[in-house]
Amino acid sequence: MLKRLEELKQNTLKQLKTVGDSSALRELEGATIGKKGELTTILRSIGTLPAEERKAVGEKANQVKQALAAAIEVREEEIRAQEMAADMQAGAIDVTLPGRPIATGRIHPANQALRDIYDIWAEMGFQVYRSPDVETDDNNFSLLNIPPYHPARDMWDTFHTTEPDVLLRTHTSPGQIRAMQEYAPEPIRVILPGMCYRYEQVTVRSEFQFNQVEGLAVGYNIRMTDLKGTMAAFARRFYGADRQVRFRSSHFPFTEPSIEVDVQCILCDGAGCQVCKYTGWLEIAGAGMVHPVVLKNGGYEPTRFSGFAFGMGTERSIMLKHGVQDIRHFWGNDLRFLEQF
Ligand code: DAH
Repeated sequence: MLKRLEELKQNTLKQLKTVGDSSALRELEGATIGKKGELTTILRSIGTLPAEERKAVGEKANQVKQALAAAIEVREEEIRAQEMAADMQAGAIDVTLPGRPIATGRIHPANQALRDIYDIWAEMGFQVYRSPDVETDDNNFSLLNIPPYHPARDMWDTFHTTEPDVLLRTHTSPGQIRAMQEYAPEPIRVILPGMCYRYEQVTVRSEFQFNQVEGLAVGYNIRMTDLKGTMAAFARRFYGADRQVRFRSSHFPFTEPSIEVDVQCILCDGAGCQVCKYTGWLEIAGAGMVHPVVLKNGGYEPTRFSGFAFGMGTERSIMLKHGVQDIRHFWGNDLRFLEQF
């Protein structure tokens, strides 16, 4: 047995010299001093030897084990250094190669448009006022002069929640109530941007979620002419300096009188095309003078205060501006669409 141990030591030391990489080294280690290695097996079987041999064999086995472990460690260091040098040589950097382009993210077209819209309104003195997506039935409807069971509610297909009278806002108009209640009786000029939700079939023209930008100005002597001038100023800055604007009479429960704002079709310059359905005009916003009931619900005395309000769809505005034909692109996450902006 002693002889076998000595042989094992000499053989292993000899093999160590020829081992060329770390995996071969691991293998040699496993076959000798590893858990299932020969030396380990010998050490485990010492108990079965005749008593007089045990001591000598045990001592020798331990010596061999230590010697081999030390030799393996030395060889391991050498191999590691060699491998590192080879890696460095193989991976040498050619500084004359052109760099690899880094793909950068970009701002979603809806958010880009929102930022442009904020800038324009900020220049006209309108601050951004944030209000929540989850709203009360009161703010979304009743306080906007749309009482329960009133047929006007049919204009907005609503996502209700399991909580009674809590819903996903169908428009940004409930933010008007919140802003007024916070600031009354101070005059205010705010825009209220954000996501709205409607329980609707998704089609080319309608999504169940979309951004709106609402606007509200309340003060002492605000008139319809202020509304018209302000909307025209916005339209020309957003859609182009020489756009024609027109106003059509309309109806919304929270404004009186109510109007809709059209801009001359951007794609055909008013000549008539598919996008403007051959009318030459594109509808960009609903608007009007804030209804006295709504002013009162917001905390303003309607005999002393007046105001105007408007609401427009952000994705719709981008579609009109760039001739995008399908609103589903906005949340479709197709890079071919998103990268065009
Ligand atoms: N809230 C309306 C809608 O989503 C849009 C609107 C119309 C907002 C007229 C207004 C307004 O502030 O005055 O259909």
